[in-house]
Amino acid sequence: MAEKTIYEHFISQGFSRRDFMKACGALVGAMGLRHVPPVAASDLPAHLSRGAKVVHTVAKALESKPRVPVIWLEFQDCAGCSEALTRSQSPSLIDLVLKEISIEYHETLSAAAGHQIEANKQAIMAAYRGQYLLVVEGSIPLAADGAYCTVGGRSALDQLKEAADGAAAIIATGNCAAFGGLPAANPNPTDAKGVWDIITDKPVVNIPGCPAIPEATTGTIAHFIVFGGLPELDSLNRPKTFYGVTVHDRCLRRPFYEAGKFATSFDDEGARQGWCLYKLGCKGPTTYNACASIKWDAGLSFPIQSGHPCLGCSEPNFWDGGGFYQGQSAPLNRPTIGMVGGAAALGVVAGSIVATANKSQQKEK
Ligand code: SF4
Ligand code: F3S
Repeated sequence: MAEKTIYEHFISQGFSRRDFMKACGALVGAMGLRHVPPVAASDLPAHLSRGAKVVHTVAKALESKPRVPVIWLEFQDCAGCSEALTRSQSPSLIDLVLKEISIEYHETLSAAAGHQIEANKQAIMAAYRGQYLLVVEGSIPLAADGAYCTVGGRSALDQLKEAADGAAAIIATGNCAAFGGLPAANPNPTDAKGVWDIITDKPVVNIPGCPAIPEATTGTIAHFIVFGGLPELDSLNRPKTFYGVTVHDRCLRRPFYEAGKFATSFDDEGARQGWCLYKLGCKGPTTYNACASIKWDAGLSFPIQSGHPCLGCSEPNFWDGGGFYQGQSAPLNRPTIGMVGGAAALGVVAGSIVATANKSQQKEK
């Protein structure tokens, strides 16, 4: 019997077609509309907006594609990226990505454990060689022959190389997997490395952050599944969709920065008024991440909104480059790319796409 498509599997779980279209809208929002490849929309009604056409294109792809296995390895990590993933913005997005796209191995989320889950991983890697996606969370220690981190009696290095060998692509989620993170901070006793320091013969996408924004991880997985390839990356292998602009460019405190109004301690009048945190060490101007737009916990908040300067958690070397809470010497004089005080672009785009998808779906019925 032919393997079920992602759509068939989704529907067999008791979801409706409307749920499916909603999830497709959330997926497109997570992938970032601006960077979704142009769609072949000749068979779609001309009155649909580009956003609605993209949603329909994604839906069409998921109706015909089989589920893609994902193997998720955790090494020197705190599981914070996995934890953040379970708090992702849309329950239907999580249903689609976690259940339908099929995470076959995850130390924290899988129900099975021990020999059973290790055997399942081996079976999936053999059956889907060249097709599965490998997600890595946590850094890889090289010191002492990798003895600082072992899973099932084998070193992280050994496990990574084995799984990377048969993977179609690799996603390093979180600063630790991307750039070494906290374990690699001076004096780096375990000689911790990021994935791309070790795997050089396969595409490695970095989704840094502490933790990574879950929508950036699921959006990148979704992009691979829908379009059969990776999104456009920057020079640090980060998807431009999520890392194309700085935190400062989208920051809600930016008008205070422009007006020269800065908090100088965490409990002064400026802090109470929500002024810019630059003089408290904020690294938003040099940090590329989408947290000011997407935020966490269903768009509830992000560090700067809750009163904490950006620590630069999506950049290499952020622990050693820290200097947390030390005021920057003078505000940077860099050009704005707009959106000061404006709407959180990606979230708004995602929301409007979901709404459009719902409207289109209602018309279909
Ligand atoms: Fe926001 Fe920090 Fe930029 Fe101030 S310096 S506007 S707090 S990102
Ligand atoms: Fe990280 Fe700075 Fe965002 S510390 S979560 S990139 S505000």
